[in-house]
Amino acid sequence: MTARVIDGKAFAARVRAQVAAHVARLRDEHGLVPGLAVVLVGEDPASQVYVRNKGTQTTEAGMQSFEHRLPAQTSEADLLALIAALNADPAVHGILVQLPLPKHLDSDLAINAIDPAKDVDGFHISNVGLLGTGQKAMVPCTPLGCLMLLRDHHGSLAGLNAVVVGRSNIVGKPMAQLLLGDSCTVTIAHSRTKDLGAVCRGADILVAAVGRAEMITGDMVRPGATVIDVGINRVERNGKLRLVGDVDYASAAAVAGAITPVPGGVGPMTIACLLANTLTACCRAKGLPEPDGLTA
Ligand code: GUN
Repeated sequence: MTARVIDGKAFAARVRAQVAAHVARLRDEHGLVPGLAVVLVGEDPASQVYVRNKGTQTTEAGMQSFEHRLPAQTSEADLLALIAALNADPAVHGILVQLPLPKHLDSDLAINAIDPAKDVDGFHISNVGLLGTGQKAMVPCTPLGCLMLLRDHHGSLAGLNAVVVGRSNIVGKPMAQLLLGDSCTVTIAHSRTKDLGAVCRGADILVAAVGRAEMITGDMVRPGATVIDVGINRVERNGKLRLVGDVDYASAAAVAGAITPVPGGVGPMTIACLLANTLTACCRAKGLPEPDGLTA
């Protein structure tokens, strides 16, 4: 079998178009413009690229983008003061503090200082608790994007065996909660799991989010399974830098029923879902109906 390729790039473009259409209606009918504030501390090159892309896509969707670039040596007090000001700013509906922060800053403290209603990353402890108890939460963007791709491919996920490889707070744990919310039977595996291959072969849905290049190989995939590759790893091949996922694409695609490529799979969904979350946060803040299909 050769797997169907799940085109995350095309799907993300549809999500952005849906967000933009809803944003235009908010502006025309309510004079309301959703605003997203992104806080970047320091000069991490990868973070600078992400933040630039977020700003561009936010503006393209018709929303306001506020960028706050702080020097690497910013004090905790100054960072917390900025977050407090953004919490109080009525033009700001979503706040994202780009991670990782410089080592002298406590990221848990910063994230938990964000108003949970504006926490478009879904990292605040109250959003984590709301998601874990099946209540209305702000949901982390990357797992939300994976869920959208899976719902689009399968329709109902009820009763399917899902294995999530990876236990991070950003992807693995919220992904497992979301799949459970859609009535999957969920296993969380990780780099220390015994006989990882056997565990993975039990999966109808296999989500790879371990952060190890090409760790999941075709022999670990059940024939016909859906494989979602969250990994983005830079590796050197034949003297060139290449992006690869946590899945060995060639061997897995020969066995799977459907698979996301890297690049062009899950990656583009993350910013699309950040825009969706900003719109959702704005609608909730104003007591307006939420957009269909853009939330968990
Ligand atoms: N750094 C890498 N990914 C993310 C993300 O999804 N959110 C934040 N805030 N920082 C990140």
